[in-house]
Amino acid sequence: MTLDEARIAALVREDLAHLIHPQWYAPDHQDPVIFDHGEGVWLTDVRGRRYLDGLSSLWNVAVGHGRGELADAAAEQMRKVAFTNSYTGFSNLPAIRLAAKVVELAYDNMAGVFFTNSGSESNEGALKTARFYWNLRGRPAKVKLIARERSYHGGTLATASMTGLPAFWKYFGPLVPEIVHTRRPDVLDCDCEPNSDGECAHWLEAAILREGADSVAACIAEPVKGAGGVWPPSAHYFPRLREICDRYEVLLIADEVITGFGRTGRWFALEHWGVQPDILTVAKALTSGYVPMGAFVVSAPIMEALSNLPPDARFMHAYTNSAHPTAAAVALRNLRIFEEERLVENAAAMGERLGGGLRRALGGHAHVANIRYLGLIAGLTLLRDAERGTAYDAAEGVGGKVARHMREQGGVITRFVGDQVVLAPPLVVRAEEIDQIVGAVESAVRAVTGG
Ligand SMILES: Cc1ncc(COP(=O)(O)O)c(C=O)c1O
Repeated sequence: MTLDEARIAALVREDLAHLIHPQWYAPDHQDPVIFDHGEGVWLTDVRGRRYLDGLSSLWNVAVGHGRGELADAAAEQMRKVAFTNSYTGFSNLPAIRLAAKVVELAYDNMAGVFFTNSGSESNEGALKTARFYWNLRGRPAKVKLIARERSYHGGTLATASMTGLPAFWKYFGPLVPEIVHTRRPDVLDCDCEPNSDGECAHWLEAAILREGADSVAACIAEPVKGAGGVWPPSAHYFPRLREICDRYEVLLIADEVITGFGRTGRWFALEHWGVQPDILTVAKALTSGYVPMGAFVVSAPIMEALSNLPPDARFMHAYTNSAHPTAAAVALRNLRIFEEERLVENAAAMGERLGGGLRRALGGHAHVANIRYLGLIAGLTLLRDAERGTAYDAAEGVGGKVARHMREQGGVITRFVGDQVVLAPPLVVRAEEIDQIVGAVESAVRAVTGG
């Protein structure tokens, strides 16, 4: 459906008046793109303009837009039943099948799944589960969570507290206590690689020692930082993190809300480095964004502890819509598409084309540094002087200008984080569409930086 300019202006006025958007800042919302429909990697707005969805909308539309199979799966399930309660004593068919499927696809040590409605709920549930587990093990003092600087874990108060980006804390304090962040140890014996954003596993050890291992329940980490600017770690980072967690009896929570289900070219990202977490959190691509659903997945020892609770203990964690039958039916069909269309393999191949293409187009450019990627998630840094590492002034808004140029001139939508441009197209993306993304990034960077 296309609309005339008068109708669009009225919609924008209504939108500004009544719809509070995430990360709301009214001056940035005077001319929003209002989407109407999509197909594959393409989105069309109410003016009839088409855009290539370079971020899978919000890293979630893995199987692409307009998938009739998912609409059919939802309709079929809704016709059967509106909703059924999944609290203890009740269950439903799609949820049972989905839990088994997620356990089959996830790391070998995984055994149990709790379904949520979002990534934030998954991470919050993971923290509660870690505390619950240590209580069951007779270690009630192990309550703290260590998160990392520049991480993103969600928008609830606890997950915003886990998030290591101070912009998400401002005016919302006080934050939740007993959630702390890694900081550089005083003496840095750091062996991190340049594209790891200076992240170093020693920082976790320093934080555990600072807090006292007996007080630490878990550490949470995104395998590839997403909202923090897309930073794949060095190859030895997660194996070291795992060792440190084991040494100090700290549970490792992998926040795979972005990386889970194929994004990095593997079903789950820690597979790249042969590491298994204790708790895995997912959302986004589980349903490819067609309906809200997330999950936290727990290892066999945690599942065993939950299966053998003492009579006075009950896992009093609940959401009405947990294991919603419609969401589960959509997720099951979505994961079948992944398998039928070999989307994880496509993510690996197209990721190489994207990352290689960006490096060929902009590697060595005077204003571009750190072109990094892992499967179909990629980022690059815009700098005033790439050789010296000098940043642009934040007020110049160079990242925003590049993203705007990409959208208006190149027809590619994506996001920027400060002066990092980030990309994560749907896993169904084809070679010619990748080439269009690379072309749009290159033209935008050259036009905006003048290089
Ligand atoms: C790594 C990560 N964790 C958690 C979340 C929170 O997920 P949600 O927005 O579904 O609550 C996000 C959202 O972008 C995320 O990127």
